[in-house]
Amino acid sequence: MSYLRNAWYVAASAREIGRTPFRRVLLDEPVVLFRTLSNAPVALFDRCPHRMAPLSRGLLVGDTLQCGYHGLRFDRAGTCVHNPHPGPTPSAARVKS
Ligand code: FES
Repeated sequence: MSYLRNAWYVAASAREIGRTPFRRVLLDEPVVLFRTLSNAPVALFDRCPHRMAPLSRGLLVGDTLQCGYHGLRFDRAGTCVHNPHPGPTPSAARVKS
């Protein structure tokens, strides 16, 4: 099915979105929703760019969402900002926001 992409759609009610990440499928795409510590809503593609694990199974660490598989952390813009393993933070690891 094709959808109008550059348009507004309801993703969730304001009360549904909190500090526990959860998954919705919008326009046939998995999306993870949560709020930052300052209560700003965040929507990210629900697939980690590393091994495609669902980020909705991860946990919030401050304002970042940590992947439950290997622990990369992503900020609200979808930028990887933390790598718990030796080596640099992979700048190419980005999630659509
Ligand atoms: S699958 Fe997410 S960090 Fe590896």
